[in-house]
Amino acid sequence: MLSTQTIDVIKSTVPVLAVHGTDITKVFYKNLFSAHPELLNIFNHANQSQGRQQTALANTVYAAALHIDQLEALLPAVKQIAHKHRSLGVKEEHYPIVGEHLLGAIKEVLGDAATPEILSAWEQAYGVIASVFISVEKEMYTKAAEQPAGWDGFKDFKVVRKVRESSVITSFYLEAADGSTLPPFQPGQYITVRVSIPGKEYTANRQYSLSAAPNENYYRISVKKEADREPFGTVSTYLHDHVQAGDTIEISAPAGDFVLDTEAMSPVTFISGGVGITPFMSMLGYIANHQPSRPVSFLHGTRNKQTQAFDLEIKDHMRNIHDTTNCTLFSDEPNGYITPEFIEENMLKNSDIYLCGPVPFLEIMTKHLAQLGVEEEKIHLEFFGPAVSLSTN
Ligand code: HEM
Repeated sequence: MLSTQTIDVIKSTVPVLAVHGTDITKVFYKNLFSAHPELLNIFNHANQSQGRQQTALANTVYAAALHIDQLEALLPAVKQIAHKHRSLGVKEEHYPIVGEHLLGAIKEVLGDAATPEILSAWEQAYGVIASVFISVEKEMYTKAAEQPAGWDGFKDFKVVRKVRESSVITSFYLEAADGSTLPPFQPGQYITVRVSIPGKEYTANRQYSLSAAPNENYYRISVKKEADREPFGTVSTYLHDHVQAGDTIEISAPAGDFVLDTEAMSPVTFISGGVGITPFMSMLGYIANHQPSRPVSFLHGTRNKQTQAFDLEIKDHMRNIHDTTNCTLFSDEPNGYITPEFIEENMLKNSDIYLCGPVPFLEIMTKHLAQLGVEEEKIHLEFFGPAVSLSTN
C-alpha cells in the first residue's frame, strides 16, 4: 500500500501533470518507440499520429492516480481497457517498459520541478495501477485460453466468404484455418484483426465487432471502408481491396464487455449510427435464435439507401421475434436525423438501451435520452476509437 504522504504528493501533482499531459505523453511515446520499436507492432499508428491514444493513456493514469486510495471503484473502467489490452496481446512484461518511459518523460518535461520525492511517489503509484491492470488481464488471458477451443494471442483464420453489405460496408466470414470449432462469445464482443500490409514495416491491428450471432463455425466482421479518412483507413482499405476469400488473416479471441445481458428477458432498444450497427447484428441474431419472446426495437441512422447495411437480415431475424419495432432514418433526407421525439415514439417502455456509433452520434443520443428522463443504468454504450478518459462513475 502507498503511504499517506505518497498519496498526498500524488494528489497534489495530478493537476500539474494534467497541464503538461500532452507534452509528457508525446515525449513518452517518442522515447518508448525509439527504445522499443517492436511495440509499434501492437500500437495503432493512426491513433498515435492523431494523439488520441496519447490522451487516453495519460488521462487514465492521472484519473487512476487521483483515485489511488479507492482503485476498486475504477474496476469497471479498468476491465474495459483490459479487454482491449488482452485482445491486442499486451503482457505483464510490457508494464515496466511503459512505466520506465512514463517516469522518464515526467522528469524530462517537468525538469527541476520533478523532485526525487515526486518521482518516487509516481513510480510507486504507477506500480500500484499497473499491478491492478496486470492481474485483471492475467485472469482474462487464462479465461480465453481455458475456453473450449479457446486460444491465447493470435491465430490464423481463413476468409471463407466476402459479402458486400452496402456501398461502404463489407462482411468477412472467418473460419479457423486449422478447421477447429470456435469458442463461444457474448453477443456484442469484438476481435482484433492483425495484418501485415505490404510496404509497411509493422503489423497493424484493428478491433471489429463480431456481427453475426454466436455459433461454433464462423465469425463474421463487417468493415466500413474509411478510405477518405487516412490514416485511419489503412486496415479497412487493405481488407476491402486486397483480402479475398481464401486468404488468411490473424485474429485474437473475442473480447469486450459491451455485451447483451443474455440472462435478462427485459425489452431491448438498439440505437445505432452507421457502422455502429455491427454489434447489434450479433445481439439481434442471438435474440432471434434464443429469446424470441424478448421485445426488441431496432433504430438505426445512416446516410442513405446505398449506405444502409443488413436491411434484409434484420427483417429475417425480426420474423422470429414476437414483438418488434424496426426503423431506419436516412440523414441525407429531410427530417432524417434521430430526434428525442423519434426515440420516444419508438423505444420500448422500461427497456435496456444499447447505443453504438461514432463519438458525436453517442453524445447526441445520450443527450436525447437524458432529455427523455431515461435512467443512466439503463443505457449501455460503445463508441469506436480509443477511450479518451477513464470514467469514475
Ligand atoms: C489502449 C491505458 C499500459 C498498449 C489503452 C487505452 C487506455 C490505456 C485508456 C484506450 C482503451 C480503449 O481504446 O478503449 C493504459 C494504462 C496503462 C497502460 C493506464 C498502464 C497502467 C499499456 C501497456 C501497453 C499498452 C503496458 C503495451 C505496451 C495499449 C494499446 C492500446 C491501449 C496498444 C490500443 C490503442 C492503440 O493502439 O492506440 N491503454 N495502458 N498499454 N494500450 Fe494501454
